[in-house]
Amino acid sequence: MMRPLIVLSCLLSVSLAWNSNYFPDNFKFGAATAAQQVEGAWDEDGKTETIWDKFVHQNPDRIGDRSSPDIASDSYHKYKEDIALAKAIGLDHYRMSIAWTRILPTGFADKINQAGVAYYKKLFAEMKANGIEPMVTLHHWDLPQSLQDSYGGWLNETITDLFADYARVCFELFKDDVKIWLTINEPKNLCHSGYGTGGGAPGVRGSGVNEYICARNIVLGHAKAYHIYDQEFRAQNNGRVSIVIDTDWYEPNTNSGEDVEAAERVLQFNFGLYGNPVYKGNWPEVIINRVGNRSSLEGLETSRLPAFTDEEIQFIRGTYDFMAVNYYSSNMVEAKPDADIGDPNFDSDISATTYRESSWPTCNGTHIVDTPWGLRSFLNWLKTTYGDIEIVITENGRSDKTGVLEDDHRVTYIQGHLSACLDAIFTDGINLTGYTVWSLIDTWEWSGGVSIAMGLNRVNFSDPERTRTPRKSATWLTEVIKNRCLEDTCS
Ligand code: NOJ
Repeated sequence: MMRPLIVLSCLLSVSLAWNSNYFPDNFKFGAATAAQQVEGAWDEDGKTETIWDKFVHQNPDRIGDRSSPDIASDSYHKYKEDIALAKAIGLDHYRMSIAWTRILPTGFADKINQAGVAYYKKLFAEMKANGIEPMVTLHHWDLPQSLQDSYGGWLNETITDLFADYARVCFELFKDDVKIWLTINEPKNLCHSGYGTGGGAPGVRGSGVNEYICARNIVLGHAKAYHIYDQEFRAQNNGRVSIVIDTDWYEPNTNSGEDVEAAERVLQFNFGLYGNPVYKGNWPEVIINRVGNRSSLEGLETSRLPAFTDEEIQFIRGTYDFMAVNYYSSNMVEAKPDADIGDPNFDSDISATTYRESSWPTCNGTHIVDTPWGLRSFLNWLKTTYGDIEIVITENGRSDKTGVLEDDHRVTYIQGHLSACLDAIFTDGINLTGYTVWSLIDTWEWSGGVSIAMGLNRVNFSDPERTRTPRKSATWLTEVIKNRCLEDTCS
């Protein structure tokens, strides 16, 4: 169905500096969750321990409200309700993840857990019956604890083969069910919190060294999975594969060369560390140079940034069928003098001051600020930096601590960001084809526990039934999707 305003714009070849109120026909709406955050059933039907299961069981105080993901939103038992909620909103796709430990309890592809397979088969069948396309993440931070114990997880290159084996098993098992695959979610957080600061599972510290080793293994693991799909499954499955990379937006504080350079540098360390190898084939120049220089000043013989070989560069370059990106918030950036040479540290490698303006809306001091202009700048930066590639936003959404059903702040946030999407498409000519709200239902929000609400649908975590209730944002989004237009701009 072609909307009248769009037809007009095409016929008249109106310049792209013209906005439309309507989302193009190829633009898809979705919502997301992840296994560790919603499934619960942490040791049921053969599933084994993940690094987050162990982290929380051993350090309950590391989670703000001391809640655990043992039951979470209980989606393992209530998946039909989740799909009914997605259907009620009219979503095109539901982004969810497969728990590695539910499919391969040892972590290795030596034994497939049929009960785990049956769960995802039922979930995909339910989606199909309701006309919802599965968008499936293979690894959303929930590494098998066994692989952390025996190999050191993402710090050991062996993990790249183990991940590729797991990916092959999933591609094969679900080849009739899934056409959109996302290999790994937000590697920056996985590598930085998990292995750099140690703030998240598996809680390993080694900033300035481990982030780069982890990044290298993530990129290689992703590329191996991509090639397996390409060579063994693409012809029959005819689907698409990408990796989900995230960043906040970083806006220079002034137009001075130093601030502009600092903002670009922060983007490269946050996004380019993963994006550049996948989209272009190697680490960003600025990271090669900075980490190389600082390493030599530290007296090291080789850079803390492990190089890719020429063969590896060929192997990783172009391992995407579209860009999958998560965006939530913005920051201002000021240049600052390079940090003194001392113990290696990821932030010292970047050397920039970042901050958020106090006027930027936030909810109850939670981690997300409502700056939709940052999304538009980010989408434009992606096009300038990597070229005119199709982009799908795989996460965007707003947190609060009250969990209120009348979540006008979430409506405002999503409306602003969808409006930025329209501007990016029609004014800036960005090839943006999808938007995914985080999250479909309230989840166990990692170190924020269940006290941080982000769902279009509320989950009552005090109720053993984990009752779900649609919020105002769900009702509002239903209308937007039905009209393919933002409420107050429909003509
Ligand atoms: C990104 C992560 O992918 C997701 O797991 C998390 O819940 C959201 N950000 C919100 O913080």
